[in-house]
Amino acid sequence: MKRIAVLTSGGDAPGMNAAIRAVTRTGIGLGMEVYGVHHGYAGLIQGDLKLLSARDVGDVMQRGGTFLGSARCPEFRTLEGQQKALNRLAEKGIEGLVVIGGNGSQTGAHALSTLGFPVVGIASTIDNDLFGSELTIGVDTALNIALEAIDRLKVTASSHHRAFLVEVMGRDCGYLALMAGIAGGAEVIVIPEFETGPEEIAAQLRAAYERGKAHAIGVVAEGATYNAEKLVHYFQENRERLGFDLRSTTLGHVQRGGTPGAYDRLLATRLGVAAVEHLAKGEHGVLVGLQAGRIVPTPLDIVVSSKKPLDLSLMDMAGILAK
Ligand code: F6P
Repeated sequence: MKRIAVLTSGGDAPGMNAAIRAVTRTGIGLGMEVYGVHHGYAGLIQGDLKLLSARDVGDVMQRGGTFLGSARCPEFRTLEGQQKALNRLAEKGIEGLVVIGGNGSQTGAHALSTLGFPVVGIASTIDNDLFGSELTIGVDTALNIALEAIDRLKVTASSHHRAFLVEVMGRDCGYLALMAGIAGGAEVIVIPEFETGPEEIAAQLRAAYERGKAHAIGVVAEGATYNAEKLVHYFQENRERLGFDLRSTTLGHVQRGGTPGAYDRLLATRLGVAAVEHLAKGEHGVLVGLQAGRIVPTPLDIVVSSKKPLDLSLMDMAGILAK
């Protein structure tokens, strides 16, 4: 394989630049030309590609986001859009593609692979909801940002004897909320996989007050039926007595924009190298991900048709430790 392309797609994640750098320099090291696609599948459809040199990917690893740009592209979900993308790749003589992204992006990668084009996916999303990788690029940095926010909120919460609901991202997945809740010592954790009603949440906050706590933190996943906004509304409507005065903070995209930490840079680098090595060996139609400390390929058809499990026994553990 002499010419490959790399793109980042879907929500950006801290560490994507390290993956692009690893793909580019590994490809060049193997005697390939490496093209960067701007703005994900939308750019691929438009033929917005640029040849990358080793210098082009210098000084990018420490930057959050993706210097190639990313997009969510409804047109690429259609066969027509996918065909246009294949035409652009053929026009440039590109023989293989690396797709850095999460579930939606790997569904696109799978579609191209099914149409016969060699693709390797790299597991990247702050949500950590992608089958085939125990951790995905961006999770560690996003988690640390959430933790810093929780630690700060605890300080002001203690000063004012307040409870804070902190809403974290994760789409339909509670991984970020669960881990941030455990590592942040939250009194309450609310995730979509383990529904907790508002009365129960109020009871847990009240119990923390009655145990003499100076503050209470509830970490709420954005995908939970009762997100932070709905909970505040419910408590106000129902005049729930919590003991604490209540405030809420939604972290939102702040979690995505961080400077990638060491863990994400290293994971992204290992995944980037492995992706190109697989393409070079003719092993494609796979996602490279982390499993038991090793970088392992998983067929894309399995990746896109499987749901990643969340260890719900950790909810019990968090409950015990919140006392
Ligand atoms: O998938 C990453 C993610 O940040 C989710 O946690 C969140 O639900 C979604 O993307 C937000 O998407 P957008 O950036 O398009 O608003």
